[in-house]
Amino acid sequence: TRPSPLAGQSVLITAGPTHEPIDPVRFIGNRSSGRMGFAIAAAAANVGARVCLISGPSRLPTPAGVERVDVETAEQMYQAVLDRAPQAAVFIAAAAVADYRVEARAMHKIKRDNQPDQLSLVPNPDILKAVAGLTDGPLTVGFAAETDDVLDNAHDKLTAKGIDMIAANAVGEGKGFEVADNALTVLWPGGHRELGHKAKTQLAAELIDLVGERFHAAD
Ligand code: PMT
Repeated sequence: TRPSPLAGQSVLITAGPTHEPIDPVRFIGNRSSGRMGFAIAAAAANVGARVCLISGPSRLPTPAGVERVDVETAEQMYQAVLDRAPQAAVFIAAAAVADYRVEARAMHKIKRDNQPDQLSLVPNPDILKAVAGLTDGPLTVGFAAETDDVLDNAHDKLTAKGIDMIAANAVGEGKGFEVADNALTVLWPGGHRELGHKAKTQLAAELIDLVGERFHAAD
């Protein structure tokens, strides 16, 4: 087999959920396990890339040969990514980042008789969009997690975020989040490829091959 165009290149990947604290013991989170992003990190390391994995809270073991940075919140993930993105050749955003955080988190555990009936939320920064906006930044690959009109919504995100590629997955009960398999369709301006439904480890290897091809084409 030919060497991958990503061999020796620096690949930055986000994975997992973010946790947005309400107080020291409670948070707003989501069902992402990190499986998809960790599988992509392993696949990128397998083709010889230098991989940095920025992970939200996940119990998964760090893939061999991968540098891992653990974060909790979207703002921490933003900082960890933006510190490294200018030096990266490729950025792949597989994390399920919370779009909002609690405006004023409580510094002490909120007591039962003191609980607010409403939480005030403020928007989090869009990590992927910020990386796509860098001058001479990396090739950007996003994910779109959609319950309806998967390809149309993914196409809108590709354009709105100004990214190079997007991997669309249908999510819902037993689909996308948490489970060991997934189905991906990858879109880029002027093309698409159906990767089908298979194990996340296999999808990750095929996605890395495709990203390598696009990286080579853009070179
Ligand atoms: O972790 P698993 O259990 O294996 O599940 C995998 C997955 C379903 C989480 C994964 O395949 C996936 O789809 N990840 C992206 C989930 C998501 O939040 O998608 P989105 O459509 O809301 O966001 C679009 C893109 O923008 C994503 O690449 C996301 O990482 C990025 N984003 C979103 C918001 C934000 N503030 N910053 C971002 O970078």
